[in-house]
Amino acid sequence: MISSKHLLIKSIYQEKVDRTPIWIMRQAGRYLPEYLETKEKAGGFMGLIRNPDLACEVTLQPLKRYSLDSAILFSDILVVADLFNMNLRFEEKKGPVFDNPIRTEKDLAKLPKEYDITKLSYVNQTIKNIKSELRDSLPLIGFIGSPWTVATYLVEGNSTKKFTYIKNLLENNKSLLEKILDMITKGSIDYVKQQVENGVDVMMIFDTWGSLLSKNEYRDFSLRYIERIISSIDNEIPIIYYSRATSNFDVLKNMNIDCVGISSKNNLQTVYELLDKKMSLQGNFNVELLKSDNAIIKTEVIKTLDSFPYDTGHIFNLGTGVTPDIDPDKVSYLVDTVQELSSK
Ligand code: CP3
Repeated sequence: MISSKHLLIKSIYQEKVDRTPIWIMRQAGRYLPEYLETKEKAGGFMGLIRNPDLACEVTLQPLKRYSLDSAILFSDILVVADLFNMNLRFEEKKGPVFDNPIRTEKDLAKLPKEYDITKLSYVNQTIKNIKSELRDSLPLIGFIGSPWTVATYLVEGNSTKKFTYIKNLLENNKSLLEKILDMITKGSIDYVKQQVENGVDVMMIFDTWGSLLSKNEYRDFSLRYIERIISSIDNEIPIIYYSRATSNFDVLKNMNIDCVGISSKNNLQTVYELLDKKMSLQGNFNVELLKSDNAIIKTEVIKTLDSFPYDTGHIFNLGTGVTPDIDPDKVSYLVDTVQELSSK
């Protein structure tokens, strides 16, 4: 278990810190030439995730370039589908694809009733490899997708922007939707426990598509299931919840979450106050700004830091993941600038 003295952990728990910690969502990824090289060696993204040595190598790549304050496990929120024999594939440019999406009771009935958690044991080895390389110099963030966000992919079958099928279930077949969410929740609970047992120091829950839901739907179809997962870890490690664009902070504030990740559409101070300052915040620098000159990046970093005018409780990050079109040197400039300007 990581020392509770680490900057990231202290900020999550709103304890006194000397400066603002920073890490970057998708910090290991396609904008790094060394990542593309290792991915090629692994024969693609799925091959990379399932190879503990190469997944560990890729996790550490951004830490060699930048003085980041955390590592994040290299994997994907959709690997949980392995438990349900869903056969996840990634297509270049298209993203994740499931050839057997779940849209009817019949589709669901075809999936196994029991699942074998050892199908995800390759992740255990990856975590062990990373932990042994890090030697507690930095915390390691493990993660899952929220059942709702994972369900959008299992039901749609790919990265749609329309969400036709899941919206149809929400309107016309809530009972099937609940069964799907229940299945994902059960698998996620075992998967999270496995990550914790193998040594991740923080658990992050990605709820990228929670914002598709109205307030009551958000409570009933997203947060309710997340709550079950959170209570299964029983406060063993801190929890970061990433909500890309929700505005339903009044229902969120009752959750047993330590830190909320927000996108650049929201203002840090406003959200912090809406959450009654009960949770720390992570975010929310706009990734597009990394295409600007350093002078502009610096001004915008100051704006972001100033939008959280408190001594602790802010973890600097982007509002979304870093994209393949970003120059790695700009990330370097961002990390150094945040660390320098936030020093007390
Ligand atoms: O942040 C990290 O560095 C950790 C690794 C990580 C990945 N995906 C690796 C990845 C994490 C935490 C995720 C989360 C994830 N995956 C989310 C939630 C966060 C978000 O981005 O909104 C979602 C919705 C997914 C599902 C997913 N994975 C999609 C839709 C795609 C295709 C779109 C894209 O960005 O490429 C992926 C692919 C993916 N996941 C890549 C990486 C590094 C790119 C794979 C490649 O090399 O081609």
